[in-house]
Amino acid sequence: MKTKSDFDKEKQLAAKEAVKLIRDNMIVGLGTGSTAYYAIIEIGERIKEGLKIKAVATSKETERLAVSLNIELIDIKNIDVIDITIDGADEFNSDLIMIKGGGGALFREKIVLSLTRKKIIISDSSKKVEILGKFKVPIEAVPFASSYVMKQITIAGGSSKLRMKEGREFLTDQGNYIIDADFGPINDPETLAMTLNNIEGVLAHGLFIGLVDQIIMGHGDTTKIFEK
Ligand code: A5P
Repeated sequence: MKTKSDFDKEKQLAAKEAVKLIRDNMIVGLGTGSTAYYAIIEIGERIKEGLKIKAVATSKETERLAVSLNIELIDIKNIDVIDITIDGADEFNSDLIMIKGGGGALFREKIVLSLTRKKIIISDSSKKVEILGKFKVPIEAVPFASSYVMKQITIAGGSSKLRMKEGREFLTDQGNYIIDADFGPINDPETLAMTLNNIEGVLAHGLFIGLVDQIIMGHGDTTKIFEK
């Protein structure tokens, strides 16, 4: 059985491969999470060697890491296209539909990927699944609407839990709550995504459909590519 350190190696391998796609003068979307972390570190190394890019961060945590590595950040409000984004995923299936948002950055990640020309996801080999749904679907909800949203999740056939951190509600970078929803095996992610889109008070949900061009997955000592 693979250990955490095996998975870490796979993440690193995928990250290195993805960062090779970055060229001078690109605007780069920086993902969030333990896999994206390796890509950001690698970008920092390339910057030391002279790479010139500007970047957009998908979370405050990523912003801090980028600043510490001298990666120049720009305000997403001032750009209409991002050349390439490298981010992680919690699960993906063979249709390249993903669950993301384990770290709570799903809203910004969705916006950044939606503005991106080349959407690259990096992962270790544990993230590829036959059927989505073992990982709970994170849902960012406006606090005022949270109990309403949880009721609607029940009506949609799921169960849910408000995400907590250190005894208090976990707050996203937008100051919202995360509701982790369990729908069991998700056989029809498109329909579920539509249902979640239609719940008032939901800012974003963790089903990412049509938001990736290529998945680079570390697999042992090598990488596997999945693309449409
Ligand atoms: C952050 O909110 C997420 O979408 C991450 O991209 C996702 O949770 C993957 O995280 P890891 O790379 O840490 O597994």
